Amino acid sequence: MNDINKRIEEILSGLTLKEKIGQLNQQETPVDGDAESFKEQVRNGEIGSILMSVGATAGNDAQGAISIDFYNELQRIAVEESRSGIPILFGRDVIHGHRTVFPIPLAMTASFNEELIERSYKDIAEEASNDSIHWTFTPMLDLARDPRWGRIIEGTGEDPYLGSKFAAAAVKGLQGENPADKNRILACAKHFVGYGASEGGRDYHRAEISDYSLNNYYLPAFKSAIDAGVKTVMSAFNDVSGQPVTSSKYYLTEILRNRLGFDGFVVSDYDAIVQLIRQGVAENDADCAELALNAGLDMDMHDKIYIDKLEKLIESGRVSEETLDNAVRRVLRVKLIIGLFENPYCKQEKYDINKHRQDAKEMACESIVLLKNDGVLPLDKSANIGLAGPFVYEKRSLLGSWMLDGKVEETPNMYEAMKAKMSGTIHDVGGTGLSWDSSLKWLYNSDVAVLCLGESWSSTGEHRAVSDISLLPEQKLLIEKAKSTGKKVVGVLFCGRPIEMQGIADNFDALIYAWHGGSEVANAVADIICGDAVPSGRMPMTAVRKATHIPMYYNVTSSGRPVNCYYGENAGECYIDSLATPYYPFGYGLSYTEFSYGDIKCENKEISLQDLKNGKKFSISIDVKNIGGFNGKETVQLYIHDKLASMMRPIKELKAYKKVLINKNETANIDFEIGFEDLGFYMPNGEYVVEKGEIEIFIGENCLTQRKITIKVK
Ligand code: NOJ
Repeated sequence: MNDINKRIEEILSGLTLKEKIGQLNQQETPVDGDAESFKEQVRNGEIGSILMSVGATAGNDAQGAISIDFYNELQRIAVEESRSGIPILFGRDVIHGHRTVFPIPLAMTASFNEELIERSYKDIAEEASNDSIHWTFTPMLDLARDPRWGRIIEGTGEDPYLGSKFAAAAVKGLQGENPADKNRILACAKHFVGYGASEGGRDYHRAEISDYSLNNYYLPAFKSAIDAGVKTVMSAFNDVSGQPVTSSKYYLTEILRNRLGFDGFVVSDYDAIVQLIRQGVAENDADCAELALNAGLDMDMHDKIYIDKLEKLIESGRVSEETLDNAVRRVLRVKLIIGLFENPYCKQEKYDINKHRQDAKEMACESIVLLKNDGVLPLDKSANIGLAGPFVYEKRSLLGSWMLDGKVEETPNMYEAMKAKMSGTIHDVGGTGLSWDSSLKWLYNSDVAVLCLGESWSSTGEHRAVSDISLLPEQKLLIEKAKSTGKKVVGVLFCGRPIEMQGIADNFDALIYAWHGGSEVANAVADIICGDAVPSGRMPMTAVRKATHIPMYYNVTSSGRPVNCYYGENAGECYIDSLATPYYPFGYGLSYTEFSYGDIKCENKEISLQDLKNGKKFSISIDVKNIGGFNGKETVQLYIHDKLASMMRPIKELKAYKKVLINKNETANIDFEIGFEDLGFYMPNGEYVVEKGEIEIFIGENCLTQRKITIKVK
């Protein structure tokens, strides 16, 4: 028995039944009046973890600032006054920033830059760990194809490969090599599983997912987080094809632990255990507790079902003490791994917040996607600019939802950022909100209009699905008015999701997609507008023409009939009343410079399956030349299409990418190593297979590329 197992057994053997159950009980921070009775519960060993927020949808509501003294005091009571002396694990939703707010995760994904994502989460961990936080409930790895879903902002969009890359980078950034490092915190992969597939984007609703789709689309990001060492997973609220995940042994034990190899603990979502009654699979609270613990759900977030019901269930034999002990072991293991027993208290240290701000700006810059540029951008710094729209002075929405600890007053708005960056006159419209000068004098006196538009942070987030993903009518009117002057019109869109593009993108001469890009996004946009930074973000999700075309995602299987694909051959013919191609496809984004691709080179176009199984890789490469006027980063994307397989395979699947800086007139040789893990797929039973036959390999600038070679697996 190794040391950690020995310690776990020693601790466990000294616990009463109630104390064991206490380790599985997570309660939220008490509001003022409850503090004394809460302390008493801590003293009695009834609370294993604290959720450092209040309410079911914490990311939508302002949360109180963290009081380090208060949490240290609770910890002191746990360590010094409770019989077991086991420290409490403090968890908070630090989703995309703490004091320094980084872009929403969907935007970070658009950077296609894992090194930068990892660095961002390292900064986030440093700030959070110095504020009493041991554990954050991120990354959210729910693949989602419906931008109406409010929580789209928290995830990585429609692609399992991109989601997997984000997952590993976020986990490594948060936890580091050693999760006991005092500047790192525990990550939590959530929501396992299928939450992003809720029908119609309606939050919490049912998800219909076959095992085949589950394995190939929904599980890979979780597998990647587990392989990167994630120690906690949050179960999802929803059911998958009729099985609430909260009570599903199939999902929580067979798939998560046995198949994916997860060895940490599972926490429920907020009040999800008691919701089994509403979901119609449990009659009462005791049934809920029995079902959830037996399914493999270790920690109960908030609803007190475990602490109230498990004791009796164990005494009556409905839940075995062995099952309880295993759950407690898993929680204790994580507490030991992060060194909580040795360092239970928060000792605040100084960190370099300026460096974090610089990183947040770099991240915002790389996540911004230039969607359109008819030669307008970049603007000369001396240009006279007419700056208009509701986001000229807006600060709060730049930070996005799930923003608990950032400071609005520390967030420059577009007016401040442009004033600081440009030397020409900035004609601002004045006022706040949606007002603008109907005389358009501000624009006639300008060389170019820069319209700062978007959606409010509060139209995204938990339980905030929207049925209309267009801009508000006032904003559309502003675009039309600006266009009617004949001046060039640049759009800057601050959004939490890819919005409907028809009638919007068409009216701009240039369009910058800035997302809800965090504390430094306005400065990043100003840099891009004047060419101090060259845009390099790529769409992590398809941007549709019309919301009625949803769902629309690139890695779809082909229809058997020749006419109804929306991506690929005969694209657009699926509706008789509208053109249904993506407005901006997955992986799309422009630069100020231009890249020219050479031919794909492959050392060996015939590969034996046996060699692949033995770990042999083959090299495939391409020359990419910067033929434009700026040094810039290109994201070279590699997709495959398995032409003949025993199951239908998507028309394209991203399998690799490289983001590289290529200076003007220089050529980069981009080399990919492809092997067994890149060429196969999962069968419905979870078996991974590579099958013999031809596979097309595409390399290019986005998922529509037709530059390809065909290889043969023999
Ligand atoms: C509910 C959300 O679904 C989850 O993501 C979050 O971590 C918890 N609330 C805690 O706030």
